[in-house]
Amino acid sequence: MAESSGFPPFSRKSPLELVKNRPHYTPMALREIARIGHPVLRKVAEEVADPMTPEIAALVADMIETMRASEGVGLAAPQILVSRRVLVFEVAAARASAESEADGALPVGLTTLINPVLEPLGEEMELGWEGCLSLPGMAGMVPRYVHLRYRGVTPEGETIVRDVRGFHARIVQHETDHLDGILYPMRMQDLSTFGYVDEMEKSLPEI
Ligand code: NI
Repeated sequence: MAESSGFPPFSRKSPLELVKNRPHYTPMALREIARIGHPVLRKVAEEVADPMTPEIAALVADMIETMRASEGVGLAAPQILVSRRVLVFEVAAARASAESEADGALPVGLTTLINPVLEPLGEEMELGWEGCLSLPGMAGMVPRYVHLRYRGVTPEGETIVRDVRGFHARIVQHETDHLDGILYPMRMQDLSTFGYVDEMEKSLPEI
């Protein structure tokens, strides 16, 4: 049996144990995601004083792991019960093309923003469908700024400043709202578009 495991015969350790001994290893873990109603989702999250600590690196690693495992395009720290101003987002090419009919969405590389600040560029807003890992299975039409500039700091201490539009801008607005205790239904103007996706698909076959 031992020979068939594929582990080096000179080590009884699992690959995970071997990796853990590397100096750069950052342990990752899937975290529980708070759902609407949990008080952490209504709090204003705390600024991060020092973005470059091991504590923040570990938090970000868990957020990325949890976002990807949940097939989300973004995640904010309060959603994993950590009330700090940290968010991650990523739009893979396949997901971007699925969204492209509505928004002309482009892929977005994995981005971590600490203490993000948003500045709308122009007043134009548009409606678009949103979902949220804290409201599983649900969606609604939410108005968001079309064009904005965001800035924030990475866990490496770099400052990011980007001017973005469409789906990318929507994600950043949605995730930053989480840091201010706002969930997307609180931004909706027409709650008749809010519901469970599988139920809405029965009455609105075009979505
Ligand atoms: Ni969300």
